[in-house]
Order: sequence, then C-alpha cells, then structure tokens
Amino acid sequence: MTFDTVIRGGTVATASDTFACDVGISDGRIAALGHDLGDAGQTIDATGRLVLPGGIDSHVHFSQPSGPGIVMADDFESGTRAAAFGGNTTVLPFCLQERGQSLRQAVRDYHAKADGNCYIDVSFHLIISDPTEQVLGQDLPALIKDGYTSFKVFMTYEDLALSDRQILEVMAVARETGALVMVHAENFDAIRFLTDRLEQAGHTAPHFHGASRPIAVEREATHRAIALAELIDVPVMIVHVSNRQAMEEIRRAQQRGLKVFGETCPQYLVLTEKDMEGLNMEGTKYVCSPPPRDVPSQVACWEGLQQGTFSVFSSDHCAFRYDTTGKLAPKGRTSFRWVPNGIPGVETRLPILFSEGVVKGRIDLNRFVALSATNHAKTYGLYPRKGTIAIGSDADIAIWDPAREVTISQDILHHGPDYTPYEGFRVTGWPMTTLVRGEVVVANGTLVGRKGAGQHLARDASLFASARD
Ligand code: URP
Ligand code: ZN
Ligand code: ZN
Ligand code: ZN
Repeated sequence: MTFDTVIRGGTVATASDTFACDVGISDGRIAALGHDLGDAGQTIDATGRLVLPGGIDSHVHFSQPSGPGIVMADDFESGTRAAAFGGNTTVLPFCLQERGQSLRQAVRDYHAKADGNCYIDVSFHLIISDPTEQVLGQDLPALIKDGYTSFKVFMTYEDLALSDRQILEVMAVARETGALVMVHAENFDAIRFLTDRLEQAGHTAPHFHGASRPIAVEREATHRAIALAELIDVPVMIVHVSNRQAMEEIRRAQQRGLKVFGETCPQYLVLTEKDMEGLNMEGTKYVCSPPPRDVPSQVACWEGLQQGTFSVFSSDHCAFRYDTTGKLAPKGRTSFRWVPNGIPGVETRLPILFSEGVVKGRIDLNRFVALSATNHAKTYGLYPRKGTIAIGSDADIAIWDPAREVTISQDILHHGPDYTPYEGFRVTGWPMTTLVRGEVVVANGTLVGRKGAGQHLARDASLFASARD
C-alpha cells in the first residue's frame, strides 16, 4: 500500500497512551499506525517530536458584532490561520442570534462570513439571545437536527442575558433534542448594581472591571445555572470558570451525579486582576469576563484541570485591537463599563497549557491531549472523527517540538489584534506543523495551507448530552 503521507519517527500521544510509531495517511484519514509502513507520496520526519491530535478549541469568537463602532480583530480567515499556527485543526466559533433576528438568518449570516474563508475546520455553536416561540418550537430543534448540537446562553450582558425562565425554556428544548447547553454564568443584576456604585464613586478606570464582577457574582450564577439544569434534568457546560468557588460548585454537582461539565481558559491560569492595572488604558488589554482573578484562583483552576472537574480547556478567543475600533473605543475611555470584553488566545492556548502544565509537571501528556482535543470532540459530537489519533479518524495532527523555547510576543503571532496579553511570557514546547484531514496547513512554522480548505462540520449529539432518565 502506498500512503499519501507518512509521518515517521515521532512519539504519538492520545488521551490514554503514548507510543513511538509512524502514522500513515490516505484520503485525509489515518490509515495505519505502526513501523516500516512503506511507500508514501510525502514523508514528514518527526524525529524528536510529538505527534498529537490537532487541537480543538471549542470556544472562540470571530466576526461577532460588538457594539457601535467596535469590530472584532479576527474574522474567520485570520482567526483560523492563527489557530492553525497554534496547533489547532478545528475551532468551534459562535453564531450569534441578535435580539429581534431570526435564528435561521443568524446561521445564514455566519455561514456567509465563514464559508470559503477558513484554513481549518469549523463548527458553529449557536448563541440564543431571543428565545421566541418560533425559535423554541421550530428553528432551534431543526438546527440541532442539522448538526448544530450545542448552544450558549448568557446570564449577563445587555442584549444577551436571558431570564431564569427563558433559560429553563431553552434547556427544555435541549432535553428534548439531546443538545448541549453552555452557560455564561455571572449575575447580571449584581454586576449592574456594582457598576453603578463604582461609577458614582468615580471609579471608572479599566481595573474596576474586576471589582464590578467579583467571585460571588460568578459563584452565585454558577450555582443557579446548575440548579436550573437539575430542574430540567439536562446536562450543562459551565464555560470560562475563573476561580475556586465556581469550580467547587461544579465539583459538588458532579459528586451528586449531575451531568455538569466545566471549562477553564489560559487567562485564568496565568493572568491576574493586577494585569488590568496597567498605565493609562493598558489595563483594557486584559479586560474579559469573568475577569482574571488572583494566584489562589489560578491554583484552583489547575486543580480543576488535574482532577477532571474541568474537562475542556479553551481559549475564549475574543480579540479586539488596542485602538479606537476596540479597547480604546471612545466610550470605553469614559468607563470600564464600555470597554469591549474579551482577549485573544487562540494561538497561544496550547503552548501555555503544554509549558505550564506538561513541562512543569502539573498534568501529564495524555491529560494535555484530553484537555486540548479529545474531550472537546467527545463533548461536542465530533468523536471519533476528530480529537484522536486512531485508524479511521480524520488525519488532524499537530507535530510539536517539545523542547523549543519561545518567548511569546506580538511579533511572532498571526492573529488579527495588535497585541497579545501574554507579551514576554516564556514557554517551552511549540507546535511546528499542523495537518488538517491529511493536508499540511502549517509546515515548520510556515503557512502552506489554503484559505477555504477548512470545512464546516455538522456534528452528532454530544456523547454526554443524554438526560439522566
Ligand atoms: O470577555 C469575554 N469572555 N468575551 C467573550 C464573550 C464571552 O462571554 O464568552
Ligand atoms: Zn518507525
Ligand atoms: Zn461567555
Ligand atoms: Zn466566549
């Protein structure tokens, strides 16, 4: 047999095993794992390197409308290109239904933005901001059948927050259809109250963003989201968890046998609220929600990753430029309230987890693979097509140099924004070559892929999204 491609001499790791082996690829899929595999159209030498399932980043925002005059710094082209450089082969961006907009129209709009523009594979989660009868009764169930098998609801943000009753109504649809609900858990009224109080006291600088959304705001909403899911008996994913109290809410629910899942992100492992105290408006570069916390919160997030409370590690990439289209928008200068929320991270997520996690001995390589790829595929209905190295799976592979030392800086990144919140952060281990369905997208740090080669994936139901009874 002649393969299209053979990756020779590397160390392969999956979520459960690590072994020396060559990988034979035919027709975009993994066709053989073994030694002396024979002829290949193309050979990739992976001596001294790790051959890992390509990263799946199941929480990214590209090209989402973000308020008057404000534009996201990444569209599907730049976002998926940066993702490929960061060792990712699939991303799950959000398709936002704006209030008053039909959900069907939102899906058409996002396909128009993405189709033909992606370097790696993508699959949309839906954001439900307007759960009308049409959405709940017709559009959402039909879209779930068509492979949009997960959606996010917000407990905060003007124009996005749903009431508890509305959350129960969309959760009921998820239960009927086997979809997975993702929840942004922060208490909207408490944030508005605290924000008003801070502004009245003249506390408008960027770092007051942290004081406007303290840990109790996140803990309370996390508890409430879990309680609502329990009432409906539906699984739920609490996204971007930032601290111990919220993590422990999730852990307690899991110990009670509830299907509650958790996600955390790089900003909660290596940034703190102090980063928002930069000179002038520099602090805006770190404004995201929930905000980065403190060192004990970082320790708690590691504990969540080590013990399985958090099953997925995502970037929550939501990039704005440090200029008047983004972090320095005129209104944002008047108060933290108006600074667009979100930071870039799709390209640096995996190097940070690898270096701080695997190299420093906090997690092993197999847990790294689970947290970066396999669990995302299982959670969101892509497994075993994606997220593992196994015969028959798509040949989505990242080849890593585990010893490469890199200082993260804006100069070396490929994303749309003009800064990285991780400027100067030193890591060991870097993804060098990325293959999507057997095609090389990034070769030893050089882009060779084609815009438009990335496809939209219809997904199966989550492996975890069946009700308890
Ligand atoms: O600040 C953040 N996280 N912005 C992105 C939107 C979201 O809530 O995930
Ligand atoms: Zn060999
Ligand atoms: Zn969110
Ligand atoms: Zn997000």
